[in-house]
Amino acid sequence: MLISFEGLDFSGKTTQIKLLVEKLQRHKFSVVLVREPGGTAISEKIREILLDKKYSEMTEIAELLLFSAARTQLVSEVILPAVQSGKIVICDRFVDSTTAYQGYGRGINLDAVNQINKLATHSTMPDITFFIDIPLTVITQRLMDSNSSTDRMEAAGKTFFEKTRNGYINIAKNEPNRFIIIDGNRDIDIIHEEVWNIVRSRLNIP
Ligand code: TYD
Repeated sequence: MLISFEGLDFSGKTTQIKLLVEKLQRHKFSVVLVREPGGTAISEKIREILLDKKYSEMTEIAELLLFSAARTQLVSEVILPAVQSGKIVICDRFVDSTTAYQGYGRGINLDAVNQINKLATHSTMPDITFFIDIPLTVITQRLMDSNSSTDRMEAAGKTFFEKTRNGYINIAKNEPNRFIIIDGNRDIDIIHEEVWNIVRSRLNIP
């Protein structure tokens, strides 16, 4: 089984992922956790380039292809072998990030993005995707409150995030069975409960 988590930066998805991994491990499942971009030697190198603010000249297409290059390496080296050996793979971001950020956010032709996504993933799609949705005002507040300096993607601005969020909402409309919107503006434990109930029913855990 492949489960991915999506959300805008500062949505709290990483906290939810940690809670789900712990819960699955307590139920004796073998879990592999990966984060995008990254997770292999090549993908981590690409991550450095993608997030480095010094590369302000990066074109949108170069960005799309670099995220996809990092992904295809991760799919081949880690995700597919783990899924094939019966493990549960949890992805902190996957292919929907590219559709939302590069397709809807940057405005790259969606058909082209979908083609590249298919190529990069060998048409592997998550069984479930949780989109942790947070109002944009909360995101911008968290961005301002965060002590760490913003990376190249976070520096993209409010309109970009608005378009990206709308992109995620469109994906949910197109694929309501796979892509589940979770109201992320609630207590951490309540959100975890909702996520867990969905995973539990899909895995037939009593
Ligand atoms: P990261 O620090 O991992 O952010 P987060 O904790 O929010 O996941 O940085 C990843 C950034 O790259 C984030 O801003 C989202 C962006 N991104 C894309 O634009 N396209 C993609 O395909 C992926 C995987 C990430």
